[in-house]
Amino acid sequence: MEVQHNISLKNHNTFGVEAIANTFIEVHNEKDLVDIFKQGIFKEPFFILGGGSNILFTKDFEGTIIKINNKGIQHFIEGNNIYITAAAGEIWNDLVWYCIDHNFPGLENMALIPGTVGASPVQNIGAYGVELMDIFHTCRAFDSYTGEIRTFTNKDCAFTYRDSIFKSKYKGRYIIMSVTYNLKIHTPLNTSYGSIENELVKRSISKPTIKDIAEVVSHIRVEKLPDPTTIGNAGSFFKNPIIDVNKLNNLLKIYPDIAYYTLDNGLYKLAAGWLIETCGWKGKQVGNVIIWKNQALVITNSGKATGIEIYDVSSLIIKDVQLKFDIELEREVNIL
Ligand code: EPU
Repeated sequence: MEVQHNISLKNHNTFGVEAIANTFIEVHNEKDLVDIFKQGIFKEPFFILGGGSNILFTKDFEGTIIKINNKGIQHFIEGNNIYITAAAGEIWNDLVWYCIDHNFPGLENMALIPGTVGASPVQNIGAYGVELMDIFHTCRAFDSYTGEIRTFTNKDCAFTYRDSIFKSKYKGRYIIMSVTYNLKIHTPLNTSYGSIENELVKRSISKPTIKDIAEVVSHIRVEKLPDPTTIGNAGSFFKNPIIDVNKLNNLLKIYPDIAYYTLDNGLYKLAAGWLIETCGWKGKQVGNVIIWKNQALVITNSGKATGIEIYDVSSLIIKDVQLKFDIELEREVNIL
């Protein structure tokens, strides 16, 4: 276990903003966490970092950043069930391609989502009609309060849209060390998301394989979303707001073309990208911050932005959307 001091976090966050951490520790296994626990580091401010793809540092971090970097993927098959266990430090997209190489369906719609396996349940990541909670089985997590290991079932995680118990009740307490996913050998492909269907037609693919879907999804993402390795960003900056039927009907009277999806629970999800675009923000630049030209939900760093600059622009967007639509956007990105 390597302990470093006064470390720049610029290469550890996909926004590429500068911030200094007092202490930086890279963890390779559970024993490292036990050592950290024994040293009393969890009693001081600390933050668990995965791929740094959903975080905005707005100031230096006066504490310990713990980067989870354990590795390994294993699977076993039982009847129609495929159980895959991946270490938290594995790159999410590598896991997706592990499944595709083994012809295991279920993750292909979530190809190319940035970040690590360990962050996948925290955020309940999702894309193109599939959410992590659909395939999550259990995860092993280290309790920073007691030093014990706990296994969380799907129900224990209290998953909702882009949210879980790890972002609410247990925020900052548990450190996910591995995740087990339960895929099914016989899983119908999910091509219902409009842009997937269109792209399959364009490629004259009538009977897609899971690899076709992963390639199509990756293509759509590359076209629409900026590549964080060249343009600093953290994907969707805001969550899509969820509203009731009364609110929707009031909005439809004024904005008949408002973009929304119907949810199973009788509520509606608005496309935050549409709200932000309609406020005139798409492609707009404020100082070193640019709202992405192909997807207004994404805020980008033109190269020299500070975290606080990006945060301030996000506040301006929230204010405009509130004024125009009477809807309060919630940030999806974690702010530190
Ligand atoms: N739209 C606009 N203008 C925009 C962006 C979107 O009008 O600038 C409207 C369009 O009508 C479009 C609709 O919004 O058809 C939906 O857009 P998109 O398919 O890009 O999906 P999204 O709801 O904006 C969500 C996730 C993305 C995920 C996509 C695809 C959230 C916060 N974002 O975006 O996730 O890739 O669906 O499933 O739920 C991420 O979390 O970082 C992320 C990129």
